Amino acid sequence: MQILQIISSARGTESFSTQLSQGIIDKLLAVHPGSTVVVRDLAQAPFPHLEEAHLHAYFTPAEGRSPAQQQAVRHSDEAIAQVMGADVLVIGVPFYNFSISSSLKAWLDHLTRANITFRYTPTGPEGLITGKKVYVAVASGGIYSAGPMQPYDFATPYLRWMLGFLGMTDVTVARAEGLKLPEFQATAVQKGIDSVAV
Ligand SMILES: Cc1cc2nc3c(=O)[nH]c(=O)nc-3n(C[C@H](O)[C@H](O)[C@H](O)COP(=O)(O)O)c2cc1C
Repeated sequence: MQILQIISSARGTESFSTQLSQGIIDKLLAVHPGSTVVVRDLAQAPFPHLEEAHLHAYFTPAEGRSPAQQQAVRHSDEAIAQVMGADVLVIGVPFYNFSISSSLKAWLDHLTRANITFRYTPTGPEGLITGKKVYVAVASGGIYSAGPMQPYDFATPYLRWMLGFLGMTDVTVARAEGLKLPEFQATAVQKGIDSVAV
């Protein structure tokens, strides 16, 4: 089994979303020994914001692309190849300003390509990244799984929708939450790991 770990926190080993992801990966490795883990760190090697060059390159057939367009499309091709090559994705998500980090959004923007990772059909759009299991490992200062802040979690509904749009419908969300609240802090990561059955 090939596991793709997506890191989107810039906090290295201090990152709770990375610790939660690692806990999930350790569980997966215990059940599927011999699996390989490919790590894509979006903080260390970020994808650029979508610029005009990327968009032109996407919509120019491969054989007609200029050298600059070939270079521009490289990021997207790389993101797509890594995801297509994986059986399981573990996506670390630091909860920023009620949503995901811009580095994770940039990765998703490069992953989303008409006729490659989704296509339009007479009955609506169809995701083309199928057969994957996805774990979303969210770390947040507050509590969003229940209670008064729940409606302000724009990260996990967005990710579920976006991953589903691309064909990844088997999504499990694990949370290390309340990390800024003294009564939850110490147990938050372990609670998130324990919530996942692999
Ligand atoms: C720029 C920034 C924005 C944040 N926004 C929120 C927020 O909207 N809600 C919240 O509960 N926590 C928020 N936090 C706290 C983070 O979710 C928390 O520190 C989490 O552990 C970050 O993930 P990481 O440990 O993997 O880096 C924010 C932190 C930063 C640095």
